[in-house]
Amino acid sequence: MSITLATTIDELKAGTAALLAAKATPGAPASLGLVPTMGALHAGHAELARAAVAGNDVVVATIFVNPLQFGDDVDLARYPRTLAADLALLEEVGVDLVFAPPVEEMYPGGEPLVRITAGPLGEKFEGASRPGHFDGALTVVSKLLHLGMGPQQLYRAYFGQKDAQQVALVQRMVDDLNIPVEIVAVPIVRDADGLALSSRNRFLSGDEREAALVLSRALRLLKSRADAHEPLDLDSAEALIRSAPGVELDYLEVVDPATLEPRAENCRETPFTGHALALVAAGVGPVRLIDNMILG
Ligand code: PAF
Repeated sequence: MSITLATTIDELKAGTAALLAAKATPGAPASLGLVPTMGALHAGHAELARAAVAGNDVVVATIFVNPLQFGDDVDLARYPRTLAADLALLEEVGVDLVFAPPVEEMYPGGEPLVRITAGPLGEKFEGASRPGHFDGALTVVSKLLHLGMGPQQLYRAYFGQKDAQQVALVQRMVDDLNIPVEIVAVPIVRDADGLALSSRNRFLSGDEREAALVLSRALRLLKSRADAHEPLDLDSAEALIRSAPGVELDYLEVVDPATLEPRAENCRETPFTGHALALVAAGVGPVRLIDNMILG
């Protein structure tokens, strides 16, 4: 296997520095792409890694199931761990180095006392049903971004647009805290029938998977209205979701993509103009699924 596996911060730093030095040319320092993940990789993650490989001289992926962002130990224990398959996928896509630390390497003194707070943007939508989730996610993303940072690097980090709220919060964090990294959002990858890829889809039965298709159908309904500059028919989209057996709608909202402030009030009645983001979340069988679509 030619991909390098680092499990300590020292190995990560030494490995990244050697790769960057090998790719640098006089007057042109090498660029670094960082792809943070929690493993259990699927084709959506492969797209993240591919985007990073296409845009940078050196690519480092991280695999770390971050305890800080899980609500309870059962959920944390249930999260799939598939390191061998993950390494094979990342190697095939062309990633240079994988940082897969044990928990003690990331949190040597136990859980950190000082953390990033996501603020009000982290309390709505996914944050409303998973209190503290985004504080935990931003805390580890901040650590990973700092660990990947070197002198004078062109530095980019890649996140899946499927977690639109996470993308908005990470962008806000690097802006608010002056973290010198460019955040790149990579479009959602869907199965042929429209289901957005997720590590959680593996827990759906055949019938539940079929029922879950209603989420992307509802988003497409809104998108077709937006494309035609008609008022968005949120009621019909909601009714469609509620009609699916075993699907418990949590929210369906149309928001500003950067601030996640609701836009529905001014596009429910009046013709849709500009850009917005439609967000949906629902319980389907044993899992909670999220999806979203850019409108306009
Ligand atoms: O999106 C994820 O997989 C995680 O939230 C991330 C960004 C790797 C932080 O643990």
